[in-house]
Amino acid sequence: MLKKPSKVQGFEILYDEDTIKERVAELADRINLDYADKTPLLLIILKGSFIFAADLVRHLNIKHKLEFMTVASYFDNDPHTSGELELRLDLKRNIDGEDVIIVEDIVDTGKTLNYIYHSLQVRQPASLEIVTLLDKKESREVDLSIKYSGFDIPNRFVIGYGLDEAGFFRNLPYIAMKEEER
Ligand code: PRP
Repeated sequence: MLKKPSKVQGFEILYDEDTIKERVAELADRINLDYADKTPLLLIILKGSFIFAADLVRHLNIKHKLEFMTVASYFDNDPHTSGELELRLDLKRNIDGEDVIIVEDIVDTGKTLNYIYHSLQVRQPASLEIVTLLDKKESREVDLSIKYSGFDIPNRFVIGYGLDEAGFFRNLPYIAMKEEER
């Protein structure tokens, strides 16, 4: 039997494996219903959403296609820069006339999704919606219309199930949040 990753020091479990599994299935069910007569294109935003997306699509019973996109923020390297965003891996095909669903792991300030949303909207998809597993509403800086959201979470740093801390912990099967300093 494989040994599971152990608890990360300084973090407490927010959602365990079963809770995530159940919620992901519910999100997929809603998409199955809403897109029953369509063939959507799910656009997976790397890297954080790779695990959520992998689980979500395995619950879909509608015909669909997948594409991937990576957005880089200059905040990553230098906190003193403007925080501009840049498409590092763009789509290699047209999306005009397609029903696109953007798949994200977490929406925080909303800046990343806002940037992605607008860069896709000008390519004239038939429809454009967002599914995110986690929504940190408290720290939102730009308005976004999110059709499918898994969990509203507190304004705390989270890891696991695709989300990282300095590149680590994406493999955790649960989502954990940083414990408050005492
Ligand atoms: C995370 C997440 C979103 C973005 C949300 O990506 O996957 O894309 O941050 O933040 P925002 O709402 O404040 O813009 P991150 O930049 O950590 O990259 P990663 O997915 O490669 O981990």
